[in-house]
Order: sequence, then structure tokens, then C-alpha cells
Amino acid sequence: MDSIQTIGEILDGKLDGSHVALRGWLHHIRSGGGILFLQLRDGSGVIQCTLKKDKIDPETFEKLSATPIESTIEVSGEVRKDPRAPRGYEIQGERVSVLFPAQDGYPIAKKYHGPDFLLDYRHLWIRNEKMQATIRLRSRLIEEARRWLMDHGYLEVQVPILVNAAVEGGSTLFSVKYFKQKAYLSQSWQLYAEAMIASVGKIFTLAPSFRAEKSRTRRHLTEYWHLEVEAPWLELEGLMELEEELVAHMCHQVAQRMPEELKLLGRDPGKIINIQPPFPRITYDEAVETIQQSMPTFKWGKDLGYEEEKVLTQKFESPFFVTRFPKGIKAFYHMPDPQNPKVTLSVDLLAPEGYGEITGGGQRIHVFEQLLARIKEEKLNPDDYKWYTELRRYGTVPHSGFGMGVERTVAWVCGLEHIRDAIAFPRLINRIYP
Ligand code: 4AD
Ligand code: MG
Repeated sequence: MDSIQTIGEILDGKLDGSHVALRGWLHHIRSGGGILFLQLRDGSGVIQCTLKKDKIDPETFEKLSATPIESTIEVSGEVRKDPRAPRGYEIQGERVSVLFPAQDGYPIAKKYHGPDFLLDYRHLWIRNEKMQATIRLRSRLIEEARRWLMDHGYLEVQVPILVNAAVEGGSTLFSVKYFKQKAYLSQSWQLYAEAMIASVGKIFTLAPSFRAEKSRTRRHLTEYWHLEVEAPWLELEGLMELEEELVAHMCHQVAQRMPEELKLLGRDPGKIINIQPPFPRITYDEAVETIQQSMPTFKWGKDLGYEEEKVLTQKFESPFFVTRFPKGIKAFYHMPDPQNPKVTLSVDLLAPEGYGEITGGGQRIHVFEQLLARIKEEKLNPDDYKWYTELRRYGTVPHSGFGMGVERTVAWVCGLEHIRDAIAFPRLINRIYP
């Protein structure tokens, strides 16, 4: 069997003028003027192949033009540079063989389908070019985050997903039966991360987190991927510097290396490449003043929701930090600000254009008595957190960390309208199929 090349290699300009054999799925087909126009998709890209009637016998030509889309086919021919082709290349086809014919009636047609229909057929819809672009951009964002963190001395570690207690408050906890006990699905790695920094120092993880979010919004999933970072000897200001450097690196890399994918999603790579640290910083108090100008009933002490964040994001072109949230709306572990204990040394990073929060984090309480008092104040059971508080007894250190919602970040960078399209198989309040 001939060796098989990939569309990706062709689009990279590596096979100009050469003879290739490609194998993949029939993405689209039409015939006209004695020519068959096939769109072939092979997992590395999509390319147009033209096949002239006079190159093959008329009977094969007729049979081929009736091939159902999504059949798997093999095409051989010559790579031609063609400025009219969407990605600059096409294949002058010489032979096409159908390997596994698809059935007729592919459920996704070239017409408008509603979002629920497309979610029901997600297992097929992910073949769509915009989904391909998003999945590739997502992978690159993750790869670049990993690279940046590793280059800056962070070690990748893993912690349990099945846990015994809440990190981010009980209202979004998923419980599971754990033999004779009750367990929960992790909302965040954070408590374990705080233990691990005393062992191996600066660390990160990429893992699923779970939130039993009861609301249907365009930015909540029940299962999402969480990139979390924790470091000893790190305080609020240093944390923000770490976050802005990381986010800027991720943005620059995708803008430079994947402009075609961004454009396909209607995103201007120039906008993404312009993102430069330092990001603006405002306090929660300042945020409240801004919000009250357009939402006069908004009260100090309330958490920022989608609408409030949208008001704020209109003031900024780049991501920006909101710091020092009130104690009452942040989890028990957030360090109260020594200058003003009503607020905490917490920070959220908000993406512009209405996207809002993409990271949440801050400086942790590192004093035993203070942490225990907060646990009691929040009416949590100190026994559940015994091991966690113990970390403050043996070698405590000021430390900070944050969690980045991968899908929130992908949605913003790719300019998506809904978070569900930032992941191949979204888990939403009303959806666990397919
Ligand atoms: O702000 P959150 O709840 O913070 C934490 O979990 C911290 N313990 C993280 C840490 O300091 N290590 O969640 C962090 C981020 C949010 O900023 C958001 O981007 C994302 O996780 N997130 C969600 N993404 C999708 N769907 C949801 N339901 C999400 N909930 C949070
Ligand atoms: Mg948050």
C-alpha cells in the first residue's frame, strides 16, 4: 500500500507539486461541468480534491458523484497551489476509492439546525469545521499554558477527584455514594495543592472540576476543565503578575501560530496578540461604584454575576483584575486584608467583551487560629478540614494560587457565544448525552 500523507502537511506547504495519497472522510461533494469537487477531511484538515470525468470512466464518475457524505475514502493525486482554494492548495485527483460507504441521510444537513438538535448529534457535529478549529485552539492553549508553567519551574501534579469536603461552598457540590460513606466530586484541587507545595514547591494541575450549577447560563458547565496553580512564598501582587504573564503567553502563541483557525471562528488574531501585561487592576469597591452607575440597586457585598461583570468588561479592552472581594462572598480560606478585614486578598481575572471571570484565586490564610476561626464562622465541620488546618501547624508559609476555567478561556479567546462550544461533549444542567 502507498504511504499516506496528511492534509496538514499539504497546508503547511511541505508537499507542493508532489504526488500524494490521502485517506479520510468525505466532508462534502458536488459535481458540475464534468468535474467532481470533493472536500476531504482527514483529521488534520480539510482540502478540496477535483476529479475530471475524462480521467476516469463515466460509470465510475457517476457512481462516485452519488457517494454519501461521511463515507471514508482514499484519494490520490497531485498537490496544486491554488490561490482560489480556501487554504491555498487543492488536489488534482487521479483516483478515488470508497473504503467504507456511509449510509444515506447524514443527520446534519447544510441548513439551520437549532442548538438542541446539534447537541443531540454532538458526536457528529464535532466534525464541523468551527468545532475542529475550537478543539485545536483549545489544545494549543493548554499546551502553551503547560509549557509556560514548566519553563517557569512549576511541576505538574495530580490530586483526588473523589473528596470528602467542599472547597467552594456546599451549594454546588455533587455528592456520590462512596460505599458506606458520602463523597463529593472535586470543585477544585486547592486544599491538596496547599499540602503539596510544602513537598515539591510551585505546582499546577489540569483536571476536571465539578459544579452542580442549578442555573442555565452561557458560562456554566457542570463538568469543566480546571487549570490550577499554587505556589509558596507568593502574595497577591505576585499572583497577579503570574496570571497576566501566563495568559499573555497563551494568547500570543495562539494568535501567532493559529491565525487561520481564529479567523475561521470570526476572531481577529490582531486583537488577541495585542493583549499585553500589565493588566488593569481595580478593587471590588471600585467595581461596585462603576456597576451602580448603570445598576443603581446593586449593593456592596453582593457577588458579581454575569450582568454585573458585563457592565465592567465594557470599560476594558484587555483582561483586567478585580481584587479584594468581601469576606461574605468568598470561600473560607481567603486571607482577610490586614488593612481592612471586611475584604479578602482575593482576585478574579475578567476577560473583556462581556466574557467576565476566567480565573479566581488569591492569597490563602496561613495562620492556624485564623483559618480555624473562619471554618467555624462559615459553619463548616472542623473535623472535615483537620488535615488541611494542620498544614498551618507544621511549616506554614504565605502562599497563593488560582484556578482558570479552561472552557471560559477558550470561549473568550475563540469569541464563542456559549461555553458549551468550548468543549467537545459539554455537561450542562439538562444534558449528559451523548
Ligand atoms: O472561582 P472558582 O470557584 O475558584 C476556585 O475553585 C479556586 N479554588 C481556584 C484556586 O484558587 N485554585 O473557580 C475557578 C475558575 C473560575 O474563575 C471559572 O473560570 C471556572 O473556574 N469555573 C467554571 N467554569 C465553567 N463552569 C463552571 N460551572 C465554573 N465554575 C467555575
Ligand atoms: Mg470564582
